[in-house]
Parts: sequence; C-alpha cells; structure tokens
Amino acid sequence: MKYIQGGLLLKDENNKGFDPIYKMMNSDSCHLEVLSYTSLNSFIIKLTVNTDDSQYIEVLDDNVVTSFVLKFEVITSGCKYVIDKYKDIEKSAVSMNSFINEAKQQQHVFIESITRGSPLCPSIANVALFDNDSSQRLIDFLLNLNDKRANTVDTESMDIFNYLSERMKTPCENQQEHEESILDHYEIGVIVMPTIENSNTLYHYIRPGNDINKEAIEEAIANAFSQIVRLFIDIGIISFDLHTNNILILDDQECKLIDFDRITDINNDFISEFKDIQETTDEIEKYKFISKVMNKIYEIINNRQIEWVQNYIKNLSICSRAFDILKKNMEMNDEKAAEINIKKKKQNQRKKKK
Ligand SMILES: Nc1ncnc2c1ncn2[C@@H]1O[C@H](COP(=O)(O)OP(=O)(O)O)[C@@H](O)[C@H]1O
Ligand SMILES: [Mg+2]
Repeated sequence: MKYIQGGLLLKDENNKGFDPIYKMMNSDSCHLEVLSYTSLNSFIIKLTVNTDDSQYIEVLDDNVVTSFVLKFEVITSGCKYVIDKYKDIEKSAVSMNSFINEAKQQQHVFIESITRGSPLCPSIANVALFDNDSSQRLIDFLLNLNDKRANTVDTESMDIFNYLSERMKTPCENQQEHEESILDHYEIGVIVMPTIENSNTLYHYIRPGNDINKEAIEEAIANAFSQIVRLFIDIGIISFDLHTNNILILDDQECKLIDFDRITDINNDFISEFKDIQETTDEIEKYKFISKVMNKIYEIINNRQIEWVQNYIKNLSICSRAFDILKKNMEMNDEKAAEINIKKKKQNQRKKKK
C-alpha cells in the first residue's frame, strides 16, 4: 500500500499510511454515509467523528477536522486515458495513473493556493492505494463496522461496500487491446479530504426552476469565475471537468473547486496582465479581462460540460464582480504563509528525530 500525506496536520505523528483513517473508522463516534456516486467507478462517502476521535488538524486555523470525504475509486488498468489539450477528452475508466494524478493535482493546487488567502480546493488528508488483497480486507473491515456498533454505516454505504466486495472478487474484463494492461483484478484507491461544510454544488444554484434569488446566483457564478481564472493565471492549470457538480459554493458564496481528474498545464502570461490592471476601477476593463480569460479557458476545454459558462461570460456585473473577488484572493497573505511554513518545518523536524 502506497500513500501520500499532507495538507492537514496529523494529531499523532506516529500514525503511518492509512492508520489515522482506520483509527477514526474504528472510533465510537464514527459515522459513514453516502454523499454521491455518479458512476460505478467512484463513490463519495462522508466520514464524521467527534473532536476527540479526529486525527487531523487544519493547517490554516488549528481547527480539528471532524468531517471527511472518502472518495473510493475502482481502479482498472489498461483503460484509455487521453488528454488532447485542444480537443475533447476521452476516458473510459479510472486507471492507476489517473487516480494518483488526481490526488497529486489536488494537493498541488491546495499547496500553491494556500499562501494566497483561501485555498482553491480541499486539502488532501490521506491517499491510499489498495491492491486486490488489501482492498478485500478494507471492504471486509468496513462491512463489519456495524457488528461492533450498530448504525455506524448507513444502508446505502453497506450496499456500496457489498458491491465493491463482489467486484474485487471478479476478474477484470479482457483489456488486451490496451498495451498497459497489467491488472487481472480490480484495485481500490481512496482519497480522503475534509468535507467542504455548508456547501452546495453550482448546479444547485443554476438548475432550472430553483427558487434562489438572482443576487445569490450571480454572486455564486462570480465566485466560480474568479476561482477558475485564478487557477489558470496563478497556477497555470485548467481543469477539464468544470461542470457545475465539480464546483462547490459555500454559504457566503465563496467557491471551491473539486475533482481534479483531468487537468492540463498551460503557460500563459495573464498574471502580468492582471497585475498591470489590478488597481483599475473601470468596470468595463474588469469585465474585459475576466471574459477574455474565461473565453480562452472555454476554447481550450471545448466540451459540453462547461456550456454553462457561455450563459454568463457576457454579463458585465458578474465578470467585474469576479475581478474584484480575484483581486481579494490574490493578495499575498505573507503572514499566514510564514505561519504555515513554520508549522510544517516543526512537524518535519519532529519526524526526523524519531
Ligand atoms: N470535499 C467535499 N466536500 C463536500 N462535498 C463533496 C466533496 N467532495 C465531493 N463532494 C460531493 O460529491 C460529489 C462528487 O464528488 P466528485 O469528487 O466530483 O466525484 P466524481 O468523480 O464521482 O464526480 C460532488 O459533486 C459533491 O457534491
Ligand atoms: Mg465530479
């Protein structure tokens, strides 16, 4: 089992690999419930514990994290996974590479954005890759949790774990036409991150027939635009999966991006352009900048998932508002960055001593 750790601080630094997650799942206060699954390859399960049983502390504000999202991904090998920068993307299932990439990219975006005020995405608490044998042991462990304490796991999660258990015992379909085929059985990857509490997807805001007021909808879209632009001009990344269910809007309309499944790095010099005009009070100039960058992103992604962008890209007040939010988010928060670096150093030093 391989793992990457970071983004959050561990309460007990002696915890190795997936141990902190096992500990939380074994604790008396553990509760597991299904949040979402849109395909039979990826299952989003929410883990909650009380403060005492949590193993993680937020880097930014020392808060104990008590709610986590566990993203279970069924991994097969030999699946086509192609990113053609300027065309549609083809992807038939989660490959090992795409799973590892997703976790790495999210961690990268978190670390890169954390020094500039609020992070663009949730941090990564834990990433673990289970080979077929250890996947079966993990699933058995999950299936047995209710024997120890009734109702730890909700019925829908039990259904999913039962499904996964069956799937782990089934050989992969013949994938010989793909060269990289190496697995004869499925494996499981788990990405653990803090839950973005009190959030709704952007879809919730713009779906037809909702009763959310116009101001809140426009503020949500302006926040989404600003974060998408920030990811591109500051970190140089475009996420290709920018459909409205991968964009979370918090109560105050702040926006977080999730699901960094398919991304591309593209060098661009919009950041210097932004710096030249960041003090502008001219609404038209703000609008022009945001709509230009959003149009560029739209053109590069070129798929149906981001058609929603077209409905708002010409809206002057949304785009100029997005500019203001971007400016606020881009202000370097040196003090906070220094604080985080000190904490990380201390933890590394303590680790080295052991
Ligand atoms: N960290 C999180 N906090 C809150 N909700 C989340 C989080 N991660 C995922 N979700 C919810 O689960 C849904 C699916 O998650 P996502 O990572 O996009 O998985 P998939 O790859 O299946 O699309 C999201 O649309 C969102 O509603
Ligand atoms: Mg998604």
